Amino acid sequence: MKSIGVFDSGAGGLTVVRELIRQLPSENIVYFGDTARVPYGIKSKETVIRFSIENILFLLGHDVKLICVACNTVSSVALPVIKTHFRVPIVGVISPGVREAVYATRNKRIGVIGTKGTIRSRAYEIEIKKLDPDVKVITQACPLFVPLVEEGWLAGNVVSDVVRSYLKPLKVARVDTLILGCTHYPLLKSIIKDVLGKSVTLIDSAKQVAIEVKETLAQEGMLNKGGRGRQLFYVSDNPEWFAGQAERFLGQKIRNIRKVENV
Ligand code: DGL
Repeated sequence: MKSIGVFDSGAGGLTVVRELIRQLPSENIVYFGDTARVPYGIKSKETVIRFSIENILFLLGHDVKLICVACNTVSSVALPVIKTHFRVPIVGVISPGVREAVYATRNKRIGVIGTKGTIRSRAYEIEIKKLDPDVKVITQACPLFVPLVEEGWLAGNVVSDVVRSYLKPLKVARVDTLILGCTHYPLLKSIIKDVLGKSVTLIDSAKQVAIEVKETLAQEGMLNKGGRGRQLFYVSDNPEWFAGQAERFLGQKIRNIRKVENV
């Protein structure tokens, strides 16, 4: 039985895996976390494209029928290029989140937060404007969020100060919808809500991504019906670190993490 291949720079993409398991319980999943080369968010476009191609080639060696790019940085800076290199369907995280945000906004002011690479690429802005040119898009890179989440700092004064400082321009701009444009940010949802107020809709694209994966597989006649899918996890370094992060992002313990020598 062919699998869905998912990759991310590290463990954050497990937030997408969690949703895939929920919506597509019969599908096998092969996950690759590039823990040897994380973070991607500060790297150049050329490097992210090169890493992504290597990651996809690795997954293609594991009999996958679709690739889900769970990383926002890769989806932002590399997706258009990597799509031209492969015939396998590739689903990224940008358009599913954008569709939900454009649907949700009432005052046509959407905020986008992400890594430096994601924000610099302007990918979210471009996609939003394609759907609705009247929407005002306010973007902000939040580079301290990833290390905070990975250290398990999800609440408290320090985190609250950092969140407040990054989100100030978005608050001033009165956004009513905020795209959490990074794998790690859904874990900061509750503190972001406290800072921005309940009236701001937070968009976590994982649910929409899983819907898009399901629709794509259905269109291609590749949906797996019946049976229970299994998950395989590969990393390029430090399986112990990944196992610790996995509990946080996936909400469950995982065993059988395999280290790959050469991607
Ligand atoms: N997975 C990355 C993203 O969603 C965050 C971590 C990194 O910088 O590699 O943008």
